[in-house]
Amino acid sequence: MLALNGGTPLRRGEDWPKWPVHTPETTKALQAVLDSQRWSIAGTYAGAPARERTFSEQWAAYNGVKHAVGVANGSAALLIALEALDIGPGDEVIVPGLCWVAPATAALNVNATPIIVDVDPATFCLDVKKVKEAITPRTKAIIAVHLYGSAVNLDELLAIANANNIHVVEDCAQSHGTRWNGKNVGSHGIVGCFSFHQGKPFASGEGGSVITNDTRLYRRLQMLRADSRTWVDHTPKMGHMELHEAGELQGSNHCISEFQSAILIDALPRLEQQIKTRQENARYLDEQLLKVGGIVPVTRPKQVDRQSYYHYMLRLELGAWAGRSNTTVSEAVEAELGFWIHPPYPAMKDHKLYVPATKRRFRYNDQRAAELNPARFELPVSQRAYKENLVFHHSVLLGTKQHMDSIVEAFAKVKKAVNELPNK
Ligand SMILES: Cc1ncc(COP(=O)(O)O)c(C=O)c1O
Repeated sequence: MLALNGGTPLRRGEDWPKWPVHTPETTKALQAVLDSQRWSIAGTYAGAPARERTFSEQWAAYNGVKHAVGVANGSAALLIALEALDIGPGDEVIVPGLCWVAPATAALNVNATPIIVDVDPATFCLDVKKVKEAITPRTKAIIAVHLYGSAVNLDELLAIANANNIHVVEDCAQSHGTRWNGKNVGSHGIVGCFSFHQGKPFASGEGGSVITNDTRLYRRLQMLRADSRTWVDHTPKMGHMELHEAGELQGSNHCISEFQSAILIDALPRLEQQIKTRQENARYLDEQLLKVGGIVPVTRPKQVDRQSYYHYMLRLELGAWAGRSNTTVSEAVEAELGFWIHPPYPAMKDHKLYVPATKRRFRYNDQRAAELNPARFELPVSQRAYKENLVFHHSVLLGTKQHMDSIVEAFAKVKKAVNELPNK
């Protein structure tokens, strides 16, 4: 009998890998910040460079670019990326229809117009053909989100963007370390944005980064995140600031704290192995779940030669599940396994948290309110994904082969007994 109906679950929940993770070294690193008298990049120099500066150098090197700027979160990363590119009123920014709300809100927050474009049914990232159709003379940027564990077709997207003089802002909040044609995502567009939120595959609680090869943009990004200040280019005197009051561009405070940078410095050496484990387990699941039938794993473009995961996503062929909904199936599988399995994001036009008209700054006149109305965008693939797809967190992919076998077994068990499930 299915666990949902009172049967014995396949696996109890306690023993799935936990996330975020830390070691005794992380605790020491945090204690060192406490003792250092330097808790903020805008604190006075106490004999060593800010940890943010050190981490940003390491993060830039990891991603194969020249520069990185630490920020408070991934939303701030997107905001200052658009600001650094001087995107503002009258401009249009293309964002995907299936995603967390941050790319669309970043466009709103620079007074640009988010143009919401549907996703590709194979990768669930931006559909490049639809991007092409959505381009107008006002299009200034495309926020290319590499969703869950997938990747936008960067070859095609960059070709279209370059032909039309449009910036590609890569949103890698969910894809730290994914490689496209041998180069990390985030290093293909003019800028790459990251979130280090606690659920992300590389995490510091809250936090983010913007990476770029463009030295002029790097200077702008620094000022935008630290109230118009940049790093000094010399070793500061003890008790003086490590930030120079450049004042060439109006900034704001989007700084990440030194505690978070210490966590990131400590975690970076572990990232490669975590990506490898998640990738191996995900590939195994791709193969094994296909054998269950009625399950289609997300297509991995051949250009993706290393794949990082934020969530594992699959699509249910609902016909093979006796017409039960994806949530009915996920509740039953979750009852067997003991971890959260759920649909992906609702399409942006249906997303409860994307409500631009609720803020006066955004709906300042009727024309603007109409322009921002998400209902005007056609997003059938994103809407379908919400009804047919399921996702679960990357921490599960840090488990053993036995863990993966339990997942396959749970889907197979639920499929076999699908007629026991409530008809909803
Ligand atoms: C694709 C994407 N972009 C941006 C963000 C924003 O990151 P943060 O939550 O750190 O602001 C997220 C967060 O989930 C995200 O998934």
